Amino acid sequence: MEVFGRLMDISTYSWQQLARASKDIKHPWRTAVVANNVEQRVLQRTVVLRDVDVNMRILRFYTDARSAKVQPIPEKSTFSWLFYDPDRLIQLRLQSTANLLGPDRLSELWSQFDEKAKRDYAAVEAPGTTLSQEETYPKFKGTIDLIHARTNFCVLDCEVTSMDVLQLHKTGHRRASFTWEERNNKWGGAWLMP
Ligand SMILES: Cc1cc2nc3c(=O)[nH]c(=O)nc-3n(C[C@H](O)[C@H](O)[C@H](O)COP(=O)(O)O)c2cc1C
Repeated sequence: MEVFGRLMDISTYSWQQLARASKDIKHPWRTAVVANNVEQRVLQRTVVLRDVDVNMRILRFYTDARSAKVQPIPEKSTFSWLFYDPDRLIQLRLQSTANLLGPDRLSELWSQFDEKAKRDYAAVEAPGTTLSQEETYPKFKGTIDLIHARTNFCVLDCEVTSMDVLQLHKTGHRRASFTWEERNNKWGGAWLMP
């Protein structure tokens, strides 16, 4: 178990783990709870961490363009991420501003998907639609419309602006906060009372 001794090691560790998690389906940070404001309510949901760009401070997730979290998505809207590692007792909270991936790069990504992945976006009903009583869960009938599915696929690149890291440990809990300093092009950090 890591014991965080030096402040900036915590930021380095966190980004290393995030990068690892985006490639490793077994990593505890492979999924995160992501929250945003939807019509004046804070909504949370689990998402899969699909990609991480450490240098650009970007976390990526995929979603259905019709889902509540992005309907509508104001420009530069804020998304908050929560990761938890139950073995190391580390909680990581991140604040970010989200940008939608543009159409060219979206199409490029889509072309790499297999049919199974594309099916996730092919349902005629939008996520959250009430289903009829006979139909307890959606089943695809006949051929699926992959052109339609493509228009439902959406990618959010969330640029991280601050981080709050907490580790519970028998030798003493530790909490650190980091804020991206645009002017200095680096993370500024501080220890916090856990
Ligand atoms: C293990 C797991 C992984 C999930 N991954 C995603 C994901 O990557 N993207 C996504 O939009 N929804 C994902 N979901 C579904 C969301 O948690 C959520 O139910 C859905 O996106 C609707 O959220 P919304 O109504 O807040 O938009 C996942 C759910 C689970 C249980």
